[in-house]
Amino acid sequence: MTKYQVKSGGKLYLAGEYAILTPGQQALLQFIPISLTAEIEPASSYQLYSDMFAYKVGLERDKNYSLIQETIAVVEDYLKTRGIKPCPFSLSITGKLEKDGKKFGLGSSGSVTVLVVKALAALYQEDWSADFIFRLASYTLLKRGDNGSMGDLACIAYEDLVLFKAFDRARVRTWIKSDSLSQVLARDWGYQIESVRPALDFDFLVGWTGLPSISRDMIDQVKSAISADFLEPTQVAVEATAQGLRTGDKELVKVSLQKVSDLLKNLHPAIYTEELLVLEGAVQGLDAVAKSSGSGGGDCGIALSFNPDHSQKIRERWRKAGIELLFRQKAL
Ligand code: PMV
Ligand code: MG
Repeated sequence: MTKYQVKSGGKLYLAGEYAILTPGQQALLQFIPISLTAEIEPASSYQLYSDMFAYKVGLERDKNYSLIQETIAVVEDYLKTRGIKPCPFSLSITGKLEKDGKKFGLGSSGSVTVLVVKALAALYQEDWSADFIFRLASYTLLKRGDNGSMGDLACIAYEDLVLFKAFDRARVRTWIKSDSLSQVLARDWGYQIESVRPALDFDFLVGWTGLPSISRDMIDQVKSAISADFLEPTQVAVEATAQGLRTGDKELVKVSLQKVSDLLKNLHPAIYTEELLVLEGAVQGLDAVAKSSGSGGGDCGIALSFNPDHSQKIRERWRKAGIELLFRQKAL
């Protein structure tokens, strides 16, 4: 019998976090090739395993496995609409996006969802586009009541640096309640996902504070503070960052990302923890820019450095402050 192996990676926000929760706003997300792996093969009964939990389940309800099980349910529903009869399989997921039980904040739930969609696509020999994988994964998370923007799924499904324009999730949720799966999938949700090709060389550094932060709780805490005073300048700065990357305008990228960072700092005090302030401050006097990434309150921050010696300096300053270099993509 054939066994298939698929992978899915992680993501980090470059710019536009929190703003992207509002339809029509844009965010830039960097793909992080630290991956999860799934192996799937036909079996006589459903056997699901993830090394996050270290025990196996079938399709009986299990709190830890609910995300995996609900993704399977959505994909199987879709296969049925195509006249394909789902068959049991064994699915094994390895490669935790965490250390000592503390997650990195690279988008593990989004990555698992995309991974399971891809595993089923492989099993059923379906050739789904990144866009279709994004839709199936978003449908699953929206149906579950996830309160995120789905920006993580856009980046992880496209496996690229993307500029994502947010759709009206409340509207898609009403469709999920009233319409069939195939009807919802066929509709125009109103998002845009564009790959961005930077014409600029930089080291991309990811610093981990070692403190896990729960995006769902951060969103609940911060969302009432989101107003036009935050959204409008953030949108301008996100577009400017994308333009700076595309045209190779280093100063524009640095100024714009700093602007995004300052706007986040003023949005809510829970975003920039002491550690994230130190992470950001480590680029002082250097040809680089740094900021908190994603929901903040812990997890990761990023730095874009335009000088290899300065990258080294940032790493040293981070190390002294107890910030671990989680990932580094060197300039070409
Ligand atoms: O902390 P992360 O990387 O999961 O990012 C959260 C980004 C938010 O805009 C705050 C929420 C979201 O889902 O977009
Ligand atoms: Mg986070």
